[in-house]
Amino acid sequence: MTEQLSLTVDGLTIPQLGFGTWMLEPADARRMVAEALRIGYRHIDTAWIYKNEAAVGDGIRDAIDAGHVAREDIWLTTKIWVAHFEHDALLRQAEESAASLGFTPDLLLLHWPKLKPSFAETIGALNEAKDKGLTRSIGLSNFPSKEWKQIQALSPAHLVTNQVEHHPYLSIDALKAAAAELGSTITAWSPLAQGSIADDPVITDIAKAHGKSNGQVTLRWLIQNGVIAIPRTTKVERAAESFDIWDFTLTDEEMSRITALARPDGRLGDWLDKDFTWDQD
Ligand SMILES: NC(=O)c1ccc[n+]([C@@H]2O[C@H](COP(=O)([O-])OP(=O)(O)OC[C@H]3O[C@@H](n4cnc5c(N)ncnc54)[C@H](OP(=O)(O)O)[C@@H]3O)[C@@H](O)[C@H]2O)c1
Repeated sequence: MTEQLSLTVDGLTIPQLGFGTWMLEPADARRMVAEALRIGYRHIDTAWIYKNEAAVGDGIRDAIDAGHVAREDIWLTTKIWVAHFEHDALLRQAEESAASLGFTPDLLLLHWPKLKPSFAETIGALNEAKDKGLTRSIGLSNFPSKEWKQIQALSPAHLVTNQVEHHPYLSIDALKAAAAELGSTITAWSPLAQGSIADDPVITDIAKAHGKSNGQVTLRWLIQNGVIAIPRTTKVERAAESFDIWDFTLTDEEMSRITALARPDGRLGDWLDKDFTWDQD
């Protein structure tokens, strides 16, 4: 197996393949985070709203205690929930999240954009959280490109990623252009389209040609596109399979065939506030 790939932003190294923990009950989150780190994942994604930050922290400690990994080799992300966007509430949650995890996160995201309180208040508080040492870096989740540029202009610190839904059925060309313009990155949530890539005939065809699974081909397509991907599973075998993607390369033609699967109704999870609209790609 060749080495896993990562992206560097502002001198920070973000492993391109991470492990997601949305919907994982605490026991599963602890077990799977420890297993993911044993398998080789070096990037873990959680959020305050997932109600599993303490379990994620326990899973990381289990892996460290077992000698599988050192804390400094893990990229740990959590998110500020929208109910905590006022200045004081944001700082309180940043402290609570770090305490629950038992670790200072590497990245703290605003989970979804919200008009009130103002972007200035919220991004100011997020910068303060960073300045106070409650996170190493800051970023966004689910911000359309217009709002991404607006809030970056108000932020002294560089926003190192925007975590958005992205998979073969949902293209995000405008967001990718914004990432390039801002010197930032895209992190893809629901990278496996919540499992539906398993039944795709085009992906199946490409997977057969490489002796790989549909999940592996989909993750490889994201990684080769320069995107960070954070798949989630409750199954150790699937976590191991999804990590085994460093020894093959999709051709340009295969990449294009997967890109062509995008469709207008490809979005799976739309909780965007009505004050905003998604980019039309
Ligand atoms: N920022 C946000 O607003 C936001 C929103 C959603 C998600 N996220 C983050 O992104 C992570 C990933 O997104 P996600 O959990 O929605 O979706 P996902 O990773 O695309 O899909 C997870 C689902 O696919 C199944 N699965 C996993 N590997 C598979 C494979 N190789 N073949 C077929 N099915 C497979 C899993 O079932 P099994 O458990 O049975 O394997 C699970 O039901 C989340 O866990 C979370 O950390 C962020």
